[in-house]
Amino acid sequence: MLTVLLGAFTLSSLCQAANADQWKSRSIYQVMVDRFARTDLSTTADCTVWEFCNGTWAGLIDKLDYIQGMGFTAVQISPVIENLEGDTAVGTAYHGYWSVNDYAVNEHFGTAADLKRLSDALHNRGMYLMVDVVVNNMAAAFNNTQPPPVNYSAFNPFNDAKYFHKYCNVTDWENPVNYQDCWLYPYGVALADLDTESPTVVQMMGSWIKELVANYSIDGLRIDAAKHVNDAFLSAFVNAAGVFALGEVLTGGMPNYLEYFPLTAAFNGKSMADLNSARVNASAGCNDTLALGTFVENHDLPRFAAAVSDLALAKNAMTYVLLNDGIPTVYQGQEQHFSGNSTPFNREALWKSGYDTSAPLYNLTATLNKLRNTAVALSDSYVTTVSDTLFTDVNHLCLRKGPGGSQIVFCINNQSSKGPQYQLSIGGFGPGDSVVEVLSCTNVTADAVGNITAYMDKGEPKVFFLASALNSTGLCPTTAPATAGGTGQKNAAVRGVAYMWSSTVCLAAMVGWGVWFFA
Ligand SMILES: *[C@@H]1O[C@H](CO)[C@@H](O)[C@H](O)[C@H]1NC(C)=O
Ligand SMILES: *[C@@H]1O[C@H](CO)[C@@H](O)[C@H](O)[C@H]1NC(C)=O
Ligand SMILES: *[C@@H]1O[C@H](CO)[C@@H](O)[C@H](O)[C@H]1NC(C)=O
Ligand SMILES: *[C@@H]1O[C@H](CO)[C@@H](O)[C@H](O)[C@H]1NC(C)=O
Ligand SMILES: *[C@@H]1O[C@H](CO)[C@@H](O)[C@H](O)[C@H]1NC(C)=O
Ligand SMILES: *[C@@H]1O[C@H](CO)[C@@H](O)[C@H](O)[C@H]1NC(C)=O
Ligand SMILES: *[C@@H]1O[C@H](CO)[C@@H](O)[C@H](O)[C@H]1NC(C)=O
Ligand SMILES: *[C@@H]1O[C@H](CO)[C@@H](O)[C@H](O)[C@H]1NC(C)=O
Ligand SMILES: *[C@@H]1O[C@H](CO)[C@@H](O)[C@H](O)[C@H]1NC(C)=O
Ligand SMILES: *[C@@H]1O[C@H](CO)[C@@H](O)[C@H](O)[C@H]1NC(C)=O
Ligand SMILES: *[C@@H]1O[C@H](CO)[C@@H](O)[C@H](O)[C@H]1NC(C)=O
Ligand SMILES: *[C@@H]1O[C@H](CO)[C@@H](O)[C@H](O)[C@H]1NC(C)=O
Repeated sequence: MLTVLLGAFTLSSLCQAANADQWKSRSIYQVMVDRFARTDLSTTADCTVWEFCNGTWAGLIDKLDYIQGMGFTAVQISPVIENLEGDTAVGTAYHGYWSVNDYAVNEHFGTAADLKRLSDALHNRGMYLMVDVVVNNMAAAFNNTQPPPVNYSAFNPFNDAKYFHKYCNVTDWENPVNYQDCWLYPYGVALADLDTESPTVVQMMGSWIKELVANYSIDGLRIDAAKHVNDAFLSAFVNAAGVFALGEVLTGGMPNYLEYFPLTAAFNGKSMADLNSARVNASAGCNDTLALGTFVENHDLPRFAAAVSDLALAKNAMTYVLLNDGIPTVYQGQEQHFSGNSTPFNREALWKSGYDTSAPLYNLTATLNKLRNTAVALSDSYVTTVSDTLFTDVNHLCLRKGPGGSQIVFCINNQSSKGPQYQLSIGGFGPGDSVVEVLSCTNVTADAVGNITAYMDKGEPKVFFLASALNSTGLCPTTAPATAGGTGQKNAAVRGVAYMWSSTVCLAAMVGWGVWFFA
């Protein structure tokens, strides 16, 4: 037994143990297992958003083509361990965030063998597995009596009150001692707050995560509610895990909430230039924006289309997510233009889309991931090169990412599908370069200063790549010359503004986000 386990650890550290640099080149698709695919692959099964819809790991394995077809190179899955059973005042534990037994897998999603099979299936495709883990608390249903009457002996391994902070309700979201040591949302389900300052808890969590990572050959972790746990614990936990972790942890990356707010704002009446300002501030103030997860949707936030239904705007947002600095992270259903509002309505069963691979955002995602994967393969420094601002104003943001030869130049805009026809002159190439706009498969030639013309129409994003570099990708096997449309005039020679270095921004991002996580 011991030998087998040691063998597993050694193998794991040789073959897996993906680090931050390896993750930077990846592109993540976020799956909520209960809502992605069922074992019977039904596309009609009905369920309510508060209850189990019965998605499984076996269903996910059978639908990996759907994910890989969009060019993703990693899959993040919702928590895998055993949760509390039964209904509560706030629904069932279909999401996986209500841990009771860290040493058993959640049977609703399958067996330990199924989970291992999923891991193997991903690795056989050259893809990474990221698993969401809960470290802040264990969970117990209760009837709202204060303090919650928790049966600690039902937990494994934290089977005693001594492993937990004494009950108090979080009341002060500005005070880390309060929001880290008190219990979150005491209604229907008590989230018994682990004493993560305790060396015993640190050690127990460390040996648990080391085993979990080894048992299932996990390549990376997403740490739930990381803000609610002390930094020293997170560092020790990530070190014990030995893999990259996404959460607001100093030793890994974090979801890029810094840009989430200006990104959604830019499509809701605010300026694109503000998005660029936030972007520039973030890369100046933070240690490593290249390891941040760029996203516009996740399971805790209203969908993009809940606020703005226009498809062209959704395409622009998706383009930013996939081509920005950092690790693109797309939440299941975003590619189907789902529009659920706040939790749990943003957790629609994906199968209701029929897994439509001809959906416009599916096609866009496939195209852009393919392009990004090509740029990554062409140059080691593609992911480590911070984007340059080529042009920005209230309606536009044009960036260039990557060194000469593998650069991607793209322009997003907020004109919507009612947007006019006009031309933008954009730099980023060399004089005379032959360039393809990959979303329309049209070609243009760079002028004497290396500028190309973007023929803007109906608010569509524009993405440019050298024709010679595109050659091997299979994208745009044939191209037609781009033609001038409309009578709109070219942009004035406005340049991106330089922004001041700000070291406080990163800190603000780390402490400033965060009440959407728990279920
Ligand atoms: C999910 O499975 C349970 C049995 O485990 C069953 O009672 C329930 O009806 C199923 N729900 C759906 C939506 O199929
Ligand atoms: C809550 O109260 C109901 C009704 O008395 C009872 O059936 C249920 O078991 C209680 N739940 C918990 C978690 O105590
Ligand atoms: C507490 O949990 C343990 C272990 O699951 C169980 O044996 C015991 O009956 C529970 N106690 C109560 C009061 O529910
Ligand atoms: C817990 O505190 C919040 C404010 O943070 C308050 O809205 C809620 O009613 C409190 N719940 C309980 C059970 O005291
Ligand atoms: C890892 O696998 C071993 C052997 O099957 C098992 O004893 C252990 O409980 C597992 N640990 C976790 C965290 O799943
Ligand atoms: C920045 O990175 C350096 C080197 O990796 C590290 O020593 C330092 O602690 C990091 N600082 C922050 C604020 O993340
Ligand atoms: C685009 O930006 C302009 C200028 O900030 C703003 O007036 C307009 O409402 C924005 N459009 C959308 C769809 O947000
Ligand atoms: C970026 O930083 C500058 C200088 O600190 C500040 O004036 C500006 O408001 C910041 N922009 C955003 C969007 O945070
Ligand atoms: C996107 O759709 C177009 C038109 O149907 C098709 O030619 C192209 O191959 C699709 N792109 C990808 C990457 O699937
Ligand atoms: C587009 O590509 C064709 C075929 O390579 C070429 O003949 C034509 O000059 C190109 N047009 C532009 C505007 O670059
Ligand atoms: C694409 O590659 C083929 C074979 O390597 C080459 O003959 C052709 O000229 C290339 N086309 C472009 C546009 O670079
Ligand atoms: C070249 O493009 C940049 C934006 O990238 C623009 O500011 C500049 O005016 C353009 N130059 C010409 C000569 O059009």
